[in-house]
Amino acid sequence: MKLFDVYPLNDITIVKAKGSYVWDETGVRYLDMYGGHAVISIGHTNPHWVQNIEDQLHKIAFYSNSIKIPIQQQLADKLGKLSGKENYQLFLCNSGAEANENALKLASFHNGKKNIIAFSKGFHGRTSLAVSVTDNKNIVAPVNETENVILLPFNNSATLQDCFLNYGNEISSVIIEGIQGVGGINVADENFLKLIRKLCDEYNAVYIADSVQCGYGRSGKFFSHDFADVDADIYCIAKGMGNGFPVAGILIAPHIKPKHFMLGTTFGGNHLACAAALAVLEVIEKEKLINLTRENGLYLMNKLKTIKDIENVRGKGLMIGFDVPDHLKDLKKNLLNKHHIFTGEAKPNVIRLLPALNITRNEIDEFLKALQYEIAELKEEKEDHSDILSLIK
Ligand SMILES: Cc1ncc(COP(=O)(O)O)c(C=O)c1O
Repeated sequence: MKLFDVYPLNDITIVKAKGSYVWDETGVRYLDMYGGHAVISIGHTNPHWVQNIEDQLHKIAFYSNSIKIPIQQQLADKLGKLSGKENYQLFLCNSGAEANENALKLASFHNGKKNIIAFSKGFHGRTSLAVSVTDNKNIVAPVNETENVILLPFNNSATLQDCFLNYGNEISSVIIEGIQGVGGINVADENFLKLIRKLCDEYNAVYIADSVQCGYGRSGKFFSHDFADVDADIYCIAKGMGNGFPVAGILIAPHIKPKHFMLGTTFGGNHLACAAALAVLEVIEKEKLINLTRENGLYLMNKLKTIKDIENVRGKGLMIGFDVPDHLKDLKKNLLNKHHIFTGEAKPNVIRLLPALNITRNEIDEFLKALQYEIAELKEEKEDHSDILSLIK
């Protein structure tokens, strides 16, 4: 059987990983500034995480949600403490899309309304409802199209206000990433998030903070929405939560009440996933990774801002993006193939940095050195090229 060919692949096979490094099958070491798509929070194969999963594996890996699973409560307690959302309720599931799907559905159960406001360039996953709240036509199949979704420009307060004025009573929820990831590292304005909070309160709509990529400490606060000093009604979490073990969830404000069977999942909240997720939080707490992320993020961002040839350096914490001008278009490819550094991207020309939250200063410096070297090389090549062109003319 062939694999269904939906991913354009780099010709690299990773066989080993530790901290912020991964190795291919020939022993070549790569620096991971991409965190396997923002998933690696406490470093690849973190020893505490490995130990917790291994210990749990010897006890029990899975039983269905028809019995008591105390490690779920342990996870909820630790999550409440670290996120500051101690009075919220936790529903566990398996992926970012599933978290958003459940959030949107729960909002609709809660207020009995249908319409959802989402924003341009947002990304919320690929399941039916989650994908219908994106404006990327390539990933929305005809069956996912729905009239229940209103797509508005990101960070545009006037259109948001207008929309609520006209349709406020029909709006069930507003879903927004505090920092758009796939869309190219676009930070939501604090005043925009405050306005969402205000309008949701006024019209009994549910504020859903998609924190799948920008949450879990990556921004330098537990949730990037915390910068705006607002409480969302539902936070969606995944990626960094398991450090590579598939686990996700939604944090639900106390006024949204549960009812048996309204949500459910077979695998969500299994013993093994909870052991992995608990280990992540223990490491985040013990190593003070959120503070470290803020400090190292600032260090990296400030250094990047001094590099003249890249543009619009932006982001928060260790979620950073910059625009690559056309003459440096091979930068990402060369960083990987020549310097053995993984970075992320966003079309058409954004490099995204999403390293582990415990990346060291030395590793950051290693990246900066390679970046500057490669920019100089590419500029030189361009100059040589234009010299030759002028000779030909
Ligand atoms: C903000 C955001 N929401 C949701 C998702 C979907 O998560 P998953 O791929 O785990 O379904 C992603 C994935 O990149 C994301 O960045």
